[in-house]
Amino acid sequence: MSAYPDFVARFYNVIYDRLRSSVDHAYYLKQLTSAEGPVLEVGVGTGRLFKDAWSANADIYGVDLSEAMLKIARTQPGIEPHRLISGDIRTMQLGKSFSRIVAPFRVFGHLVSLEDQLIALDVISRHLTKNGTFVFDVFVPDAVLCTKGLEPTLDFDGFWTDGCYLRRTTSVCPDYLNQINHVSMQYEWYENGRDCSGTRDFPMRYFFRYELEHLIGRSPLTLDSLNGDFEGGGLETGSKEFVVVCRL
Ligand SMILES: C[S@@+](CC[C@H](N)C(=O)[O-])C[C@H]1O[C@@H](n2cnc3c(N)ncnc32)[C@H](O)[C@@H]1O
Repeated sequence: MSAYPDFVARFYNVIYDRLRSSVDHAYYLKQLTSAEGPVLEVGVGTGRLFKDAWSANADIYGVDLSEAMLKIARTQPGIEPHRLISGDIRTMQLGKSFSRIVAPFRVFGHLVSLEDQLIALDVISRHLTKNGTFVFDVFVPDAVLCTKGLEPTLDFDGFWTDGCYLRRTTSVCPDYLNQINHVSMQYEWYENGRDCSGTRDFPMRYFFRYELEHLIGRSPLTLDSLNGDFEGGGLETGSKEFVVVCRL
């Protein structure tokens, strides 16, 4: 499991508020605020979604294995620190059950091996109340990306604070047989009067539709729905997301 370096955590909200929140924020906010009783976000990261659910009075908890990410999440004003827990989806024992657990923005893709995926589904099930739901998303594999990869491509070009640029360039090296994209993200930014840079390399596992169905079938959960976007659309050619809802 690759750690999130400090610079990735620091720039995470600037980048994904722009690149991701218009896609999934409204959906997960609804999931987190409409459940009865306590809810849990696993892989809570910097609290991109957590903070707004908390502001909307959700009885929410979050777990993440990255201290750098949690450190940012804990700086949000008004967040009770004990709600943000350092832990791993595969081993957590929170001593508490939740009516809904979510794993937004490809958290599940960080679980590279089948064994880890099944363990995580089992551990998550043990934290759900009866009839509780687990909601997560992973990307629909793009055939070209997953076979040919991606040459270094600028995917963020902006400012992280007044007058200080931030650029990110991403490349992908595919391992089709193991269903893993080896992603490399090169960050360049301006800080304290100088140009800085850092690289993060990590494996991202991808899943096919029927694999997800079989995976959930082998877990204690049952599949409620499998959608192709965050608006409730079905799976069709061109769908970019698998949005999965399963139930205990
Ligand atoms: C792409 S970020 C998503 C963060 C947040 N859910 C969001 O939507 O902005 C993935 C997060 O999952 C966390 N993560 C990856 N593997 C994990 C594991 N086994 N247990 C707990 N957290 C994990 C990472 O540390 C990271 O913060």
